Amino acid sequence: MKALITGISGQDGYFLSQLLLSKGYEVHGIVRRNSSMTQGTMDLLPEHIKSNIIVHYGDITDGNFLSNLLMKEKPEEMYHLAAQSFVGYSFQNALSTYDVNIGGTLNVCNAVKDASQDTRLYFAATSELFGQPRVTPQNETTLFMPRSPYAVSKLSGLWTIRTYREAYRLYMTNGILFNHESEVRGPEFVTRKITRGVAQIKNGSPDPIILGNLSAVKDWGYARDYVEGMWMMLQQDNPDDFVLGTGESHTVREFAEMAFDVIGEKIRWVGSGVNEIGLSQEGNTLVKVSREFFRPLESDNYRADYSKAKKVLKWKPETTFADLVKIMVESDLKSLN
Ligand code: GDD
Repeated sequence: MKALITGISGQDGYFLSQLLLSKGYEVHGIVRRNSSMTQGTMDLLPEHIKSNIIVHYGDITDGNFLSNLLMKEKPEEMYHLAAQSFVGYSFQNALSTYDVNIGGTLNVCNAVKDASQDTRLYFAATSELFGQPRVTPQNETTLFMPRSPYAVSKLSGLWTIRTYREAYRLYMTNGILFNHESEVRGPEFVTRKITRGVAQIKNGSPDPIILGNLSAVKDWGYARDYVEGMWMMLQQDNPDDFVLGTGESHTVREFAEMAFDVIGEKIRWVGSGVNEIGLSQEGNTLVKVSREFFRPLESDNYRADYSKAKKVLKWKPETTFADLVKIMVESDLKSLN
């Protein structure tokens, strides 16, 4: 079996490539060439694993490149993970977010349709499609009301997949994944920002962690569990869309509390809004709030109803919230030491 992953150099590509290699797949990945010749999370893989990945340098905004690659390789499975994935950034750079996420996804769909119709395609959709949902928990039938350029771009991707699936009878699926994190998460995302900050404070840094909206509510799981679900979505008789999440909600504030807990620090909150701070038992400032990290619109109140994935795919998250936070803090402590 041959699989092609766009976005292999991101967090999910890191776990998915290892999963597929362990199942005996020939794994191909698309990587954007950069002048420093770095390959994102692929550089974190042990050499004996990394050397088994066949890299194709290219960009999903180049439709010819994708069509030629699919014509040549004709993979049985394709995982389209590449995206401008940072919600906050999408407010400042909406057009480039649309170019990559809408144009790139259209290029992927066209390449499958024109050059490799038997390829089964997974598309990384997102819980961000729900915006500020009015019903809890959210599932595949919940109304999509996106509230960021990123989410708007992903809604276009989701509907492109649905349209191509029906119009051309192609095997294309949407994975509507809630937040999933790990020790290789990019440092701009709030979970990793917190766990890196906690590790630095444990190592003597006097600098507090500066965050935005502490009250944002998300459903956070472990990325390693979620790539299993992606793979399962492509093993069904018929293509369909699935929600993956944990069914548990936590605030950013709770994530920070749990992360400090791992280093034995009981955080105490005082003040409110942008004046809220998190203090150590000795009174040192561990967390501060800045307007800089607030978004023009927040999308939260998330809690996944993943019952369809549980029933059809037999998928469920294996890692608890507490374990996820512990894995991330301990990994950051280890890399600092
Ligand atoms: N990044 C960031 N930095 N977020 C902060 C901060 C901060 O300092 N302080 C509070 N937050 C809040 C954000 O406002 C948001 O509500 C929440 O923390 C999570 O933000 P991110 O970690 O940046 O992730 P996200 O929820 O916006 O999006 C991630 O998950 C989606 C769902 O799976 C990304 O991975 C998306 O690509 C993905 O679709």
